[in-house]
Amino acid sequence: MEVKTSLLDNMIGVGDMVLLEPLSEDSFLENLKKRFDHNEIYTYIGSVVISMNPYRSLPIYSPEKVEEYRNRNFYELSPHIYALADEAYRSLRDQDKDQCILITGESGSGKTEASKLVMSYVAAVCGKGQEVNKVKEQLLQSNPVLEAFGNAKTVRNDNSSRFGKYMDIEFDFKGDPLGGVISNYLLEKSRVVKQPRGERNFHIFYQLLSGASDDTLKKLKLDRDFSKYNYLSLDSAVVNGLDDATSFRTVKNAMQIVGFMEDEIRSVLELVAAVLKLGNIEFKPESRCNDTDESRVRDKNDLKEMCELLGIEQTVLERAFSYRTVEAKLEKVSTTLNVAQAYYARDALAKNLYSRLFSWLVTRINESIKAQTKSRHKVMGVLDIYGFEIFEDNSFEQFIINYCNEKLQQIFIELTLREEQEEYIREGIEWTNIEYFNNAVICDLIENNQNGIMAMLDEECLRPGTVTDETFLDKLNTVCAEHQHFESRLSKNSKFLNDHSLPHSCFRIQHYAGKVLYCVEGFVDKNNDLLYRDLSQAMFKATHSLMKELFPEGNPSKVNLKRPPTAGSQFKSSVGTLMKNLQTKNPNYIRCIKPNDKKAAHIFTASLVCHQVRYLGLMENVRVRRAGYAFRQPYGPCLERYKMLCKRTWPHWRGPAREGVEVLMADLQVPTEEFSYGRSKIFIRNPRTLFFLEERRRQCLQDLATLIQKIYRGWKCRTHFLLLKKSQVVVAAWYRRYAQQKKYQRIKSATTVVQSYARGWQARKLLRELKHQKRCEEAVTTIAAYWHGTQVRREYRKFFRANAGKKIYNFTIQRIMQKYFLGVKSGLPSMSPVDKNWPARPYRFLDAAHAQLRSIFHLWRCKKYRSQFSQERKAVYQEKLEASELFKDKKSLYPSSVSQPFKGDYLEISKNPKYQKLNSCVEEKVLLADVVNKINRANGKGASRILLLTKKNVVLADQKTGQVKASVALPDLISVSVSTQNDGFFALKLKEGSASAVKGDFLLSSEHLIETITKLHHIGSTASDDGEQLDINISDEFLVQFKQDKVCVKFIQAAPKNGNSASCKRKNNRLLEVSVPAATA
Ligand SMILES: Nc1ncnc2c1ncn2[C@@H]1O[C@H](COP(=O)(O)OP(=O)(O)OP(=O)(O)O)[C@@H](O)[C@H]1O
Ligand SMILES: [Mg+2]
Repeated sequence: MEVKTSLLDNMIGVGDMVLLEPLSEDSFLENLKKRFDHNEIYTYIGSVVISMNPYRSLPIYSPEKVEEYRNRNFYELSPHIYALADEAYRSLRDQDKDQCILITGESGSGKTEASKLVMSYVAAVCGKGQEVNKVKEQLLQSNPVLEAFGNAKTVRNDNSSRFGKYMDIEFDFKGDPLGGVISNYLLEKSRVVKQPRGERNFHIFYQLLSGASDDTLKKLKLDRDFSKYNYLSLDSAVVNGLDDATSFRTVKNAMQIVGFMEDEIRSVLELVAAVLKLGNIEFKPESRCNDTDESRVRDKNDLKEMCELLGIEQTVLERAFSYRTVEAKLEKVSTTLNVAQAYYARDALAKNLYSRLFSWLVTRINESIKAQTKSRHKVMGVLDIYGFEIFEDNSFEQFIINYCNEKLQQIFIELTLREEQEEYIREGIEWTNIEYFNNAVICDLIENNQNGIMAMLDEECLRPGTVTDETFLDKLNTVCAEHQHFESRLSKNSKFLNDHSLPHSCFRIQHYAGKVLYCVEGFVDKNNDLLYRDLSQAMFKATHSLMKELFPEGNPSKVNLKRPPTAGSQFKSSVGTLMKNLQTKNPNYIRCIKPNDKKAAHIFTASLVCHQVRYLGLMENVRVRRAGYAFRQPYGPCLERYKMLCKRTWPHWRGPAREGVEVLMADLQVPTEEFSYGRSKIFIRNPRTLFFLEERRRQCLQDLATLIQKIYRGWKCRTHFLLLKKSQVVVAAWYRRYAQQKKYQRIKSATTVVQSYARGWQARKLLRELKHQKRCEEAVTTIAAYWHGTQVRREYRKFFRANAGKKIYNFTIQRIMQKYFLGVKSGLPSMSPVDKNWPARPYRFLDAAHAQLRSIFHLWRCKKYRSQFSQERKAVYQEKLEASELFKDKKSLYPSSVSQPFKGDYLEISKNPKYQKLNSCVEEKVLLADVVNKINRANGKGASRILLLTKKNVVLADQKTGQVKASVALPDLISVSVSTQNDGFFALKLKEGSASAVKGDFLLSSEHLIETITKLHHIGSTASDDGEQLDINISDEFLVQFKQDKVCVKFIQAAPKNGNSASCKRKNNRLLEVSVPAATA
């Protein structure tokens, strides 16, 4: 079910100022403030929307909001610009009524934003489709283009529209957009050449310099630095929140969408660049002979570049800045321009160039967006035009703007009253006269063709002779002096003679919105809007594609001596056309107000708002709306809203709505003069009546709400209770089941426990019995075994000895020994005493016996071996044994002698005839006969001698002759000295004083030293009388007695030389050195 709402629901303050009670300026402001503080920026005055600029984005323009307001009645929802746009669009679509939306307000109040909101709303709710979307997009994208060229940052608004704009959007019969037409009014072109402090030139200049690529700038001969251009004010070149570079791309993109060709865009930018260059052209005076100053271009570079951009011959333009040609009917007069005039001409050219470019842009956009079909269109016009302006210094522009606002107010009054009247007629209500202020008289003061201010200004401008702003004011003073809305100090109206708030150079007009003081300075000039013909002709000659179109009056073939229409008359006629246009349409008003002049959110400056409320004539609006009936409503919605106030209409009225309303009003006893019944609506004269109804409704709603609440609560509690009850049953059932389950499980487990205990007890009992039984059986077996054992032992005791174990042990040992000895016997080693083999012992305990057996066997084997020796051999071995005792480990020569048998008689002295003589000299048996070397005592050299050893003597004989050289009786020999080394030297030491010892001791060397000395030792000891043994002295250093001298014989190790034999050398008297070659390993 659709919920019927009303503007009156949840209202903050009052949503419609018509319902304000009491109506006064204070309550009006109070209401605006209250709503503004609650973010309600829109308020109605009847069908007029007041819009307060929130200066921040509010979440009230979302697609959901669009849907909310779509196809809803105007008063159904809280005030919104969408409600107005929807109303306008629907009556255009459904009732075929052309619409216009008039948006006014002072600069920065949000007009342009409002116009965009209206357009975007209409675009959102109208038809869709590829073609339609393209048209919509083109219409919407025309905004950024025009804003770039026509908007600028001012102190009041960072994006202030410096032109008036009226846009007709054309729709087909279905309400789909077909195209549009844009009209522009009065671009503030003076801004091109000069900007007030803190303001900027038009956005496009900054956008071009910031956003264009380096390449583009190069082609346009521009530099990115703003400061290089005289026409760009620097103090606010960069505006917070404005990104010029991005905007430039947006604008270019928008131009493409709208349908500009690439070369057109380039041409437009060239003109923009040309304007910048133009501003940089400077002049210097040049004196002429006839005492006049003529201007000359100071630096021709900028002029040259500008001429290149526009395709103008430099000399032509240069001349146009220096001379001015005035053409009368028949003659041409050329006068020079001084520097000031040259600057004036330059600026005039810049202003014209730019404003004409702007107009061209509008025309070009119109060409793109115009409807393609010729069929009848429905039209919705959107007018975004400057509101009433009252500044401290008001000039020609404010005069024009305020004139426009007067005209709009007139239209408003006319149309509002007409609409009101039409509605009364439609509804069959008696017409009551409405009192209001008609501003036609002010419009007349300004626009009257005979004596209106504009006509006077034109007359002054066209008059020959000296024309100044003062002459214009004089004229006004004479012509308009009597007018009740005109005030001037010098007028004949004596009232103002002493009014010091009115300066002499000013006049004041009492506009419907308040008094405005205009300063006449510049009126004539601005109205003339003069561009020297030389300049327009120079421009016409340019080769640039747009210039001929922009300066058609420069065409020399169409020289028109008539003055072009003045700015004022142009504006007047365009306003006239606009008014005519608007009069054919159904008006919708949006009045924009700015809450503060800080461009800040949340601040409401009452004085500022009050000022705007006044000059927007809002109080006047309310009064006009309230002059007849303050409120009207169709019967259906009215009955729906208030039916609860009467028992007969509540809850349902079954009859026509009007009758229901009549019953209702009668029941409520509303005085009949307070309302009238129309055909489809009830008209309520006074807001009080409406508020009375609303209050009753509010109370009734409260009662109804209580009733509904009561019933609802009852129902809710009942259903809740039933639900609880039902749930309780379910819960109880589940719980019981659960509890029983638990109980059952407990019993079951208890049973199991009891059962297991019982079974356990039984099992243990059984186990005990079984164990007992088993033990009994085992006991029986044991007893039986013991018993049997006893029996058997008793029976067999006679067969055992108590020492059986010892016997068995001995027997075993014997067996082992027997086996061991047999083993030894069979494994005996050979009989060789050097055989080291011996069988292994089988048991460890036999270690001692085994070792002993081995030694016994060895001794026995040796004995056996010895017993085989003969007597001689035995003597040999005894000798060898003696040698061993003497020399083993004492002399190095010994080991080599062990294997040599001791032969004794090496010379075979008894057999050899050679030694027969010698043999005969020796009495005893020769025990040893050998050749030895006798060392000469004097020089140590050797001489061979035969050494014979008998039992009594040692004989030395010549080897060749056999002649005995010396014979030493053995008792004279006291000791023999040998070295420890591997040599055969030995010294025979003789008893001092003996016969043999005359020459001293003998030093000999023998190859059979060991045998010789052993034998000598053996014989020496047996020959000794006292049984004294011969002393064998083994040492490497010993003394010998040579005659009187005691000589030391010293053995030294030497390297082998001349074979392996030792050599002897007498070193001095005391030393004889024997070098023994070291034994080779
Ligand atoms: N409804 C809105 N919501 C949010 N901000 C807004 C709204 N209306 C206006 N503004 C802010 O206020 C600024 C000024 O608005 P706008 O340009 O529409 O003023 P204007 O009345 O067109 O002024 P001018 O006469 O100088 O062109 C906008 O740039 C925007 O920042
Ligand atoms: Mg604007």
